[in-house]
Amino acid sequence: MSTTQTNKIEIIKAATSKINEVDFENLSFGSIFTDHLFECDFKNGEWQKPVIKPYAPFLLDPSSRVFHYGQAIFEGMKAYKDEDDAIWLFRPDENYKRFNKSAVRMAMQEVPEDIFMNGLKELLKLDEAWIKRGKGNSMYIRPFMIATGTGVIANPSDNYKFMIILSPVSAYYAGEVKVLIAEHYSRAANGGIGAAKAAGNYAAQFYPTSLANKQGFQQVIWTDDATHTKLEEAGTMNVFFRINDTLFTAPVSERILDGVTRKTLIDLAKSEGINVDVRPVLVSELVEASKNGTLKEIFGAGTAAVVSPISGFSYQDVYHELPNNEDSMALKLKDKLTNIQNKIAEDTFGWTVKV
Ligand SMILES: Cc1ncc(COP(=O)(O)O)c(C=O)c1O
Repeated sequence: MSTTQTNKIEIIKAATSKINEVDFENLSFGSIFTDHLFECDFKNGEWQKPVIKPYAPFLLDPSSRVFHYGQAIFEGMKAYKDEDDAIWLFRPDENYKRFNKSAVRMAMQEVPEDIFMNGLKELLKLDEAWIKRGKGNSMYIRPFMIATGTGVIANPSDNYKFMIILSPVSAYYAGEVKVLIAEHYSRAANGGIGAAKAAGNYAAQFYPTSLANKQGFQQVIWTDDATHTKLEEAGTMNVFFRINDTLFTAPVSERILDGVTRKTLIDLAKSEGINVDVRPVLVSELVEASKNGTLKEIFGAGTAAVVSPISGFSYQDVYHELPNNEDSMALKLKDKLTNIQNKIAEDTFGWTVKV
């Protein structure tokens, strides 16, 4: 191991790299991690010296609050490498803002921008050999923060650990995605934490999603908790519905995550002359549009899968198959977006940021 200082980040390099053990042609999403991680602790009322060090397990006190009261938040973003080997981030400011919004909602410490952004950039530069060029290839970035303060007392922690880990990913193909529309379970409620990227939101979805999986559905589309009549979002994706040639998507709310891909697709679709209607979408409208043949597409939008076309949905035990579209808006928008992200098409929106 060797130690250097960059932008006040202490860098402890791994003695050897694991990169040659990785089969980049057959990456399974989020399962391989690079040689290093970024870490910065908040304790004694202040952020400590940030460090980049070899990726490895770490010790925590069994009474750490994260284990008992679930103070844990995360983000998901990607970096791309262009043909000249320059590294690019996509709208990182959006992820940074959302991270601290999650922190505030979970009564956790906000992370200063220089720690988040410099940590991210220096880590990407150090492990840049792990970022592969070419469409579909990217580096999935997982910033996260946990409560490390000790004591089984149901109060917010005084101490936190902020970390960033990196996982190389290739084009994500989810296979056929059939969805079940939620009629009983909810992922979020008014006044709750649905709009935060809090770990507990995902844990809350696992059981109802596993029930849907047993019935042959890959995902659940959540509905509003009070009436189960409004379509909201899926596991880790916001959702779009195409009825005739208009794209509909629910407005973000305190129950719905403000997805970066969602807002990007809304702008891209508008720039393509597509009519976009952001308003609550009723389950009854969807069923009606499916019956009268005006429902053309449903697709999910999120950082991991980018755009994920949905092949059909089930509601009240009736399965509605979606038509095959020659002119899929999902695929058209996915292509536009990934061309901008991978620096194949010009970014006229100013979304990409060079590392
Ligand atoms: C619950 C939920 N909704 C939507 C999204 C999509 O958000 P983004 O496009 O920022 O990845 C995600 C993923 O981050 C998510 O976890």
